Amino acid sequence: TNIILIGPPGAGKGTQARHLVETRKMVQLSTGDMLRDAQASGSEMGKKVAAIMAEGKLVTDQIVIGLIREKLQEGSEGGFIFDGFPRTLPQADALAKLLTEMGLKLDAVIEMQVDDEALVARITGRSTCADCGEVYHDETKPWPADGKCINCGGTTAKRRPDDNEESLKTRLMEYYKKTSPLIGYYWAKGDLQRLDGLASIDEVKKSISWMLGS
Ligand code: AP5
Ligand code: ZN
Repeated sequence: TNIILIGPPGAGKGTQARHLVETRKMVQLSTGDMLRDAQASGSEMGKKVAAIMAEGKLVTDQIVIGLIREKLQEGSEGGFIFDGFPRTLPQADALAKLLTEMGLKLDAVIEMQVDDEALVARITGRSTCADCGEVYHDETKPWPADGKCINCGGTTAKRRPDDNEESLKTRLMEYYKKTSPLIGYYWAKGDLQRLDGLASIDEVKKSISWMLGS
């Protein structure tokens, strides 16, 4: 199964993608994570994108398409979850071409709908485990009282430099200007499904399971 999770920053794409990796042996392809890894490794590309990402703007199509191409070639037993990619029409066209070349098809594009007010609360309350990437939220999914990550037992939480109100405004503008046109694009192809991203994490898990047919 190959699916795209599409939705604004904070919609819950990463949270749900991680769940699908655990339960369905799917591979999560998050261009945001790949770009953050590039920064952490100190590569030239990482240095180039750091400021753009902190500000909340999109990096070039060429960079992210290259990252996706590489990862697709590694293959996946359970299929791919595209998380945060594609984000522009040229990226969507490039993905369609890559999938065709590899003899793969897209099974669903799932739009996670959440209104802007909720997104601010989600983004400003988010932290992740520095060791395994488990996603937490100060109110809805706080760190366990013993200070240990539920997934790996790690004890260090980190916050992203673009998770502040000002960068979030830019990220939202980028989403509405450049990414939201993809909803019409996939709707026209008959691939689009929608869910209420304001529902609880468990409810959203159930909706996705149902959409994927189990
Ligand atoms: P990226 O890393 O993709 O960030 P994003 O799209 O802004 O999405 P987020 O990771 O912020 O949110 P999410 O939907 O995964 O939410 P999460 O599950 O964490 O991109 C970052 C930057 O990289 C971009 O700005 C750009 O510069 C660059 N970039 C990346 N891809 C690119 C591309 N293709 N082209 C160009 N540039 C690109 O959840 C958020 C919080 O809410 C968490 O705290 C979570 O616990 C909580 N939560 C989740 N679900 C629920 C729920 N149902 N109820 C209550 N709380 C919930
Ligand atoms: Zn952890």
